Amino acid sequence: MEIIIKQDSREASHAAAGVVARLIHEKPNAVIGLATGSTPLVLYRELIRKHKEEGLDFSRVTTFNLDEYIGLEKEHEQSYHTFMWENLFSQINIKAENVHIPDGMVADVSAFCTEYERKIVAAGGIDIQVLGIGSDGHIGFNEYTSSFASRTRIKTLTQRTVKDNARFFGGDKSKVPHHCITMGIGTIMDARMNLLLAFGEGKAKAVADTIEGPVAAIVPSSILQHHPNAKLFVDEAAATQLKLVDYYRWVYEGKPEWQKDA
Ligand code: PGA
Repeated sequence: MEIIIKQDSREASHAAAGVVARLIHEKPNAVIGLATGSTPLVLYRELIRKHKEEGLDFSRVTTFNLDEYIGLEKEHEQSYHTFMWENLFSQINIKAENVHIPDGMVADVSAFCTEYERKIVAAGGIDIQVLGIGSDGHIGFNEYTSSFASRTRIKTLTQRTVKDNARFFGGDKSKVPHHCITMGIGTIMDARMNLLLAFGEGKAKAVADTIEGPVAAIVPSSILQHHPNAKLFVDEAAATQLKLVDYYRWVYEGKPEWQKDA
């Protein structure tokens, strides 16, 4: 795991955007896994800026989103379809046919999930998967005790996630769907690189458990300790519970310039 601690979420997001942009320059037909939530917003804003001001070209890029609520129409203001089109896709030159987001209204969830996995493989696999992290350590919507071998499937959100996400539903917990379709932990682990962003004090414990805790299904993100190329971009607030924080800074500062955000 590579731990990259930046002053604030803006700096961390810009560094992460640099990694994504480098991939697209090197591999114009890159396959990128995307996340929703408040965490990746600045990363997406920076990718949009790079598209508009530096010509970053998404015309051959394919994307797969991690998850979607079951029971929300694509057009629902809180669906992850709406989120992605509003916050990224409508402002870059990605082709609609290259965008994949689980369909929360599908009749046969199981067949849909199998097909989603097949499409990821057919696209050549995910080059970089962008991840946020839940305050309970979930990645995608893989809540605690999710199997590390899981693939795209239906999941039930924890009560804590429902509470955390109520802020997007006018603070009303009863409006938050309880089920979702999410890529599995096995799916996420197949990505060639995982790029996890975590900001704010509310994520500090999850970040410490991810990096320094035992690998255990009670903290799904801890599986990233087994990933050969996982980069964690955190701000100072999210780094406050790390025991080895000085070591991580020392490692990062000692990297040769060319390797820094690569
Ligand atoms: P957040 O959610 O980015 O809104 O904090 C992260 C997550 O639940 O994965």
